[in-house]
Amino acid sequence: MSDPREELTGLAREARVLLERERARGRAYVTLAGRAMQPADTGPRPRDEASRALVAPLASSPDPFTPHSFTADSTTRGSTIALPGFESLVPSPAGLSVREDLPDDLGTLARLVSECRKCRLCETRTNTVFADGSVKAKLLLIGEAPGRDEDLKGLPFVGRAGQLLDKMIAAIQLRRDEVYICNVLKCRPPENRTPLQDEVDQCMPYLEQQLALVRPALICALGLSAVQALLKTKSSMASLRGRTFEYKGIPLIPTYHPAALLRNPGLKREAWEDLQRVRDTLKAQGAS
Ligand code: URA
Repeated sequence: MSDPREELTGLAREARVLLERERARGRAYVTLAGRAMQPADTGPRPRDEASRALVAPLASSPDPFTPHSFTADSTTRGSTIALPGFESLVPSPAGLSVREDLPDDLGTLARLVSECRKCRLCETRTNTVFADGSVKAKLLLIGEAPGRDEDLKGLPFVGRAGQLLDKMIAAIQLRRDEVYICNVLKCRPPENRTPLQDEVDQCMPYLEQQLALVRPALICALGLSAVQALLKTKSSMASLRGRTFEYKGIPLIPTYHPAALLRNPGLKREAWEDLQRVRDTLKAQGAS
């Protein structure tokens, strides 16, 4: 008969390999049959390059965002355990709190934004673009800034990039009216240029207040401008995506901006991995 201690050590080793593999596949949580577990350590953790090498190739699909390519996996049943791995770039001792210098209801905040003249963009805008979707949303998606269509309609993501975003949302089995969508900037930059730092600085308090009032379970940052503004980093998208960060206590998952996916469809495979991470994190939090 084998030594029970050796057997236990072997089992522990196997469990560790399995958990590392799940983490490398982008899961912050795994499902256990039966027993509920509390989230484990959510502190910073260096990236595990060895685990990342275990990433399994995705089944090829002509368009990864079509809902038919979505298949439920083991994380849809049972209870969950958090794998260590939320990374924190922004120190957030106080967590998410409502600012006292801004209205504490979204309607009044939107009216204040519509009259904002804090930066030069007010001179060229047609409409401010505050948000769309549900104020009760568990998932909050943040883009960069309104484009031409959004500026004309006063709503975020209503142009071509918006149509792709709708598909991305549908691919994780949500509807646009179930999520909350907004941007870092509330006014269109001329010719859709990248937001300037002073524009971001002036507009950030509005976004912070939106986040504090909606209190989503998860933030998905669409594109480099959004992730850099929230995490206060200058790192590249290639180094930021594929990871789960923490913004003032809320998990934040970066992914490519839909406009970048339209320009470079080759990035859709990675974006689909990020969306699965979004889906699994929401599920693990009991938020979907
Ligand atoms: N791009 C964005 O970042 N936001 C929008 O609302 C539309 C396009």
